[in-house]
Amino acid sequence: MTVTILGFGGSPRKGSFNSALLREAKDLMPEGSVLNTFDIFGIPLFNQDDETNPPEIVKRFKEAIKASDGLLVVSPEYNYSIPGYLKNAIDYASRPPETNYFKGKPVAFMSASTGMLGGARAQYHLRQVAVFLDMKPINKPEVFVSFAPTKFDQNLRLKDDAAIGFMKQLLQELVNACKKA
Ligand SMILES: Cc1cc2nc3c(=O)[nH]c(=O)nc-3n(C[C@H](O)[C@H](O)[C@H](O)COP(=O)(O)O)c2cc1C
Repeated sequence: MTVTILGFGGSPRKGSFNSALLREAKDLMPEGSVLNTFDIFGIPLFNQDDETNPPEIVKRFKEAIKASDGLLVVSPEYNYSIPGYLKNAIDYASRPPETNYFKGKPVAFMSASTGMLGGARAQYHLRQVAVFLDMKPINKPEVFVSFAPTKFDQNLRLKDDAAIGFMKQLLQELVNACKKA
């Protein structure tokens, strides 16, 4: 049976390092697994009045989450936290609670940053959100791509062997957790 992972996040920026990381992950998936991605950037701002009848794109996002065995969230750090568009997409998809398809899903995180900590603070905030939504976060290894401009080539391919090694390990742990779930 093929393990299906849904990846989302990245950043809407042309030339985004995090979107590049998400693309890279597709090529690094363990045998017997596949990574599908969802573009969250068209999701409108969440309004709880609309939670029982969300826009089409949110319905599609929720169905994609439901259909997946596990999740991969790849995100930049904005001002020591989660970018608003990502928090918004998660908030929308998590509602109403009886259709919180995040529940029980193994989830892995990755981040790339121009800074020294590689987006660590955003990942730790994401972990808090994952706990509230009753997801199953993978703890190790942690994938923080620091000083991102030095780790990607001109075509936005990851050229850092250590980062590639950690990504492979994390994706393997994610797939293992999905098989056990
Ligand atoms: C609004 C904003 C806030 C940022 N805050 C942080 C931060 O708190 N920590 C950090 O390491 N980098 C921060 N950065 C720098 C990002 O790491 C850098 O812009 C990165 O390339 C963004 O990801 P992307 O390449 O996927 O768009 C910030 C960038 C922006 C635009």
